Amino acid sequence: MIGARIADLTEPAMAEWGRAFGAALPHGAVVALHGELGAGKTTLVRAIAAGLGVLDLAEVTSPTYALVHEYRAANGVVVHADLYRLRRADELDELGWEELLAGARAALVEWPERADGRLPVTTRHLALSHLPTDPERRRLEQRG
Ligand SMILES: Nc1ncnc2c1ncn2[C@@H]1O[C@H](COP(=O)(O)OP(=O)(O)OP(=O)(O)O)[C@@H](O)[C@H]1O
Ligand SMILES: [Mg+2]
Repeated sequence: MIGARIADLTEPAMAEWGRAFGAALPHGAVVALHGELGAGKTTLVRAIAAGLGVLDLAEVTSPTYALVHEYRAANGVVVHADLYRLRRADELDELGWEELLAGARAALVEWPERADGRLPVTTRHLALSHLPTDPERRRLEQRG
């Protein structure tokens, strides 16, 4: 996706894009990953985590019980939030959401719409979608 904001990518191409994207993220970046069930958000989080220098990529899974996973990376902690099960945005306050984001090397957030106004204005937005005609690829849109 060189120079473009939208691309239809196979899984290996998505992994390569994610690694490069992760490696280029500045300290403290927050990335929102939008997309329906099975669109590839966690798969892309794993690639971005690889680019951020997360050592144990097997740890990068959908947090089933916890809303948040924290991974040790080269230059700090990478936060991975999956807000699918969040019932109310103010539950994030109980998690110490702001401090969590403020202290992270980067934060990668699945189901960001559930956070309802609790993401920084500088958040980078990525959207994944299925392609009806091509099950091998996903559409990736970068929205700043
Ligand atoms: N181009 C692609 N990019 C990403 N994933 C792909 C691609 N092609 C196929 N897949 C497959 O699609 C599935 C995506 O699952 P994944 O758990 O990453 O989705 P998700 O958006 O995180 O789902 P959920 O909403 O349940 O959290 C994986 O099985 C992955 O192997
Ligand atoms: Mg997921």
